[in-house]
Amino acid sequence: MTITPEFRFRRLRRTPVLRDLVRENNLSANDFILPIFVEEEITEPVAIESMPRVVRYPESQLAEVVQRAWSKGIKAVLLFGVSTHKDDCGSDTWNDDGLMARMIRTAKQAQPEMLVASDNCFCEYTVHGHCGVTHDNDVVNDATLENLQKQVLVAARAGVDLIAPSGMMDGMIAAIREALDDGGFSHIPVMSYSTKFASAFYGPFRDAVDSNFKGTRDSYQMDHANGREALAESMQDELEGADILMVKPGLAYLDVIADIRKHSDRPLAVYHVSGEYAMIKAGAAAGVIDEKAIVMETMVAFKRAGCDLIITYYAEQLAEWLNA
Ligand code: PBG
Ligand code: ZN
Repeated sequence: MTITPEFRFRRLRRTPVLRDLVRENNLSANDFILPIFVEEEITEPVAIESMPRVVRYPESQLAEVVQRAWSKGIKAVLLFGVSTHKDDCGSDTWNDDGLMARMIRTAKQAQPEMLVASDNCFCEYTVHGHCGVTHDNDVVNDATLENLQKQVLVAARAGVDLIAPSGMMDGMIAAIREALDDGGFSHIPVMSYSTKFASAFYGPFRDAVDSNFKGTRDSYQMDHANGREALAESMQDELEGADILMVKPGLAYLDVIADIRKHSDRPLAVYHVSGEYAMIKAGAAAGVIDEKAIVMETMVAFKRAGCDLIITYYAEQLAEWLNA
């Protein structure tokens, strides 16, 4: 007897041209944002052991790092400062001559067309390492919002193109929007770390950057078990005026990305975090996976799930691969 399939999907898989023609998602260097770590008071780059090719740069090298990224086709960077001027509230972030302001000015000057985003938080600027003002070892929400308002105005005055608050404080988008609008910066967009989970995938980042932090962020970052709340967090930030929403980490949260995509028309970003990067690098170094193929497949998965933007330590490498 002969068996005849009801429909032959393989007809459109016959040649590379056919496959390209019907491909639903494609990658471009325009999709990526490169995170850059800058540490005060170092003179040479410091390697991050678990994250090969990622380093903490001295301030003196930021300009050339930004120019190099631009020359490879990367058009957006996200700046993280590692401060040596820490106090209990992170006041260096609202000093016009503090690290955050200086990094933004340096990056903009180095490459004016580069989109410069700042990670707007306090954890790299506080002695305790928490993402805000603390009382009894917990972060005080509304006092932190007032400081965040001061911080984003300093970032805006320094010339930032995109504000990216990562602290998961309630009401942070409304507070930031109000401060920017009242300060004459109604044109500056906000990309909220809107659904950010408390995650073991931040391990290598913590080792590399947050080494003095010994607690958890469970009282402000989301419980990774919660899907409905994950949607509610992003929808609330949209309501408060976030221009771009974000899910962080990435690969373990594709369901959350897809869910937000269904409910919001705002651009959606994903943060492919340090642990995700480190796992691929470790697997590749062990010779058990094909690094480039795995990275490409991961990035396409983010787009298929519904993301428009991807923040990844692979950004420069991806630009090289895509433009090769
Ligand atoms: C803190 C912060 C974290 C990351 C960036 N900023 C995580 C955290 O400690 O909560 C994670 C980045 C990464 O793992 O790649 N606001
Ligand atoms: Zn933080």
